[in-house]
Amino acid sequence: MFNTSEDQQEIQEIPTMYRTFEVESITPHIGAVVRDIDLSQNLTNEQLQDVFDAWYDWKVLVFRDQHLDRDQHKAFARHFGSLHVHPMQHGMRGDPEILKVKTTGDSPYTAGDGWHTDVTCDEIPPLGSMLYITETPQSGGGDTLFADMYLAYELLSSPIKDFLGELHAVHDGKIPYVGSYKSKEPEGGYPRNTHPVVVKHPATGKKVLYVNSGFTSHIRGMKRQESAAILEMLFEHIHSTPRLWCNVQWEPNTLTFWDNRCTQHHAVWDYYPHSRYGERVSIVGTERPAA
Ligand code: SIN
Repeated sequence: MFNTSEDQQEIQEIPTMYRTFEVESITPHIGAVVRDIDLSQNLTNEQLQDVFDAWYDWKVLVFRDQHLDRDQHKAFARHFGSLHVHPMQHGMRGDPEILKVKTTGDSPYTAGDGWHTDVTCDEIPPLGSMLYITETPQSGGGDTLFADMYLAYELLSSPIKDFLGELHAVHDGKIPYVGSYKSKEPEGGYPRNTHPVVVKHPATGKKVLYVNSGFTSHIRGMKRQESAAILEMLFEHIHSTPRLWCNVQWEPNTLTFWDNRCTQHHAVWDYYPHSRYGERVSIVGTERPAA
């Protein structure tokens, strides 16, 4: 008999009313649209605390109808930490703290078109990212899917949880940056670091399944085929369990802020040959991912 007893869990009610705004959930456990806040203004401490609380609760916050210039985008992000410089910026011109996410009919790829967590090849990956989309495809489409990696861990069976608790995996920047994006390696190469396969979120203390098909190359200390089989099983779990996901449908001038320590995301490129444009700012993490 297979164990299906851990498949269904009671939904924990997450708040929708905060002191200064209300949110509308996208699913019961991940993703919420925040109402009544203008990110171009100086936010009060109460508003900022509410954004923090709602972000921990919902993991992905969507702010619609925002009109931000780059400085305002960066100023909002700086409330959460200092700004990250993407490892691929060495080959790009322009503001190093702004990652342009631009897709047109001539693009050879679109950034983030596959399940991943941002820059887990870094020793200390970014704690969060804010993507501000200003141009959506005329044809519709171009959504971003987000997966709840607390739930991805919770839905595993107890023997697998125990087994994974001992493991560490290598996250290698060369896989996406050279393999998919064909970017030239910087002097010294792209970052490559080892993180536990199950980590604890540093703020909530909850366990997170921490491997992603964008960066994770192998599990340390195993034979190649053993590591490949385990990663394949975990990636399949993430990529084929829709109840882990929420779907963010962009409108022009939407900013989405995700917690990079407990989510993965996947940009859907279903709008070729139409265009989509946005800019991403990421926030430097505070500590190495740890079990
Ligand atoms: C990314 O940050 O991976 C890009 C996400 C998107 O364009 O929707």
